[in-house]
Amino acid sequence: MNISDRQSMHGQWSSRWTFILAATGAAVGLGNIWKFPYLTGQNGGSAFVLIYIICVAALGIPLMMAEILLGRRGRSTPIHTMKVLVEETNTTQWWQIIGWSGTLAGMLILSYYSVIGGWTLAYIFKSLAGTFSGATGEFTASTFATFVGSATSLFFWHTVFMLITMVIVAGGVQGGLEKAVQFLMPTLFFLLLLMVGYSMSTGYFGKGMEFLFTPDFSKLTGSSMLSAMGQAFFSLSLGMGTIMIYGSYVPKDTSIANTSIIIAMADTGVALLAGMAIFPIVFANNLEPGSGPGLIFQTLPVAFGNMTGGIIFGSLFFILLLVAAWTSSISLIEPLVTWLIETFGISRIKASLYSGIATWMLGLGTIWSFNLWADLKFFGLTFFDLLDFITSNLMLPLGGILIALFAGWLMSSENTKSELRITNPALYTAWQALVRYIAPIAVFIVLLNAIGIL
Ligand code: PHE
Repeated sequence: MNISDRQSMHGQWSSRWTFILAATGAAVGLGNIWKFPYLTGQNGGSAFVLIYIICVAALGIPLMMAEILLGRRGRSTPIHTMKVLVEETNTTQWWQIIGWSGTLAGMLILSYYSVIGGWTLAYIFKSLAGTFSGATGEFTASTFATFVGSATSLFFWHTVFMLITMVIVAGGVQGGLEKAVQFLMPTLFFLLLLMVGYSMSTGYFGKGMEFLFTPDFSKLTGSSMLSAMGQAFFSLSLGMGTIMIYGSYVPKDTSIANTSIIIAMADTGVALLAGMAIFPIVFANNLEPGSGPGLIFQTLPVAFGNMTGGIIFGSLFFILLLVAAWTSSISLIEPLVTWLIETFGISRIKASLYSGIATWMLGLGTIWSFNLWADLKFFGLTFFDLLDFITSNLMLPLGGILIALFAGWLMSSENTKSELRITNPALYTAWQALVRYIAPIAVFIVLLNAIGIL
């Protein structure tokens, strides 16, 4: 059989459009709406946003193409895909680290992602109960503090989130993944627009826009540049095999280049809209932009609490955020689940169960870092912050570089050209220069700069 006719044993997307929806579903999640705004706030705003956008365009898009390409060629779970490609290119076994580290990173990320997904679940019920009617910033801040201070509540919601995620994962590609993504993205997008509309009425929209878009380079430090780069990888789901495995289900006549650009634009659009919705509310209510992971849970409820129909819009918003979080969390664990199935020949249901339990247990560390372990610091970071730093700022960018180098140097140009289907030779050369030289060097510079070596 011709290698490019291979298909994954786990299925194939029914069309290019389903792939775009599913990959956008994996990309758009808590990263855009929860994490992007709070990191922006912690890193002083506009300069961070600018570096983030540059990273998405110059690193994110070419690396996404590289990752889909490897996946579609290997047609398997990241660990096995890398094994196949190492054999095909006759290189050292060491390259398989891409698959292993990615699969591990997915599980580590899901362990805390599920905790925050649990917050979202809890906030649906708080909104429905009308908790936020007429709320002030002070009230939402103290409600949030009480909520995360309770290890028992976080434990409960984390468990529920994880259970539902694993039920969807157990359903498989066509059953679970495709159905989950169909109607959701457009509705979420619409609600975000509505929120931006509300923010325009606060009188602080200009201040919010200035904070986001008037670059103030005095705020830029090595570590904020690293966070911006890490966030670009995190938000686009790059460097850990999610995009590789979704790529393995892509029909062979799909243009990888165009698809990557669409996914990156949709993802960045949602993040920017979230920022535009949130910061005017922050300034209008004297909230602290740098208040950290609680930012959206402290700001958006103020808006919902004070708009007509707020109970409905608020609940709907958190429901949609929850579904967006699910479509991402499914993709975080998919590499591990499919690897278990392929390696041990167990059923999808069992593989989901084992992965879910292990990840759920690890999540307890994140829960406690907001209460019982709040004072326990590793290198000055809580357990959650450390896990986030290691995964987003180290594992994903390093995984991304390895993927870029592998696609750029080890796969033959003939193969990459035929997979990418870029017809314009100049564009192909530009892509190759980006994955061979520019992306790896840029990631290294940012990393070295952040640890103070440059
Ligand atoms: N991109 C997702 C988000 O922004 C998170 C994610 C990271 C999903 C890595 C899959 C892989 O929420």
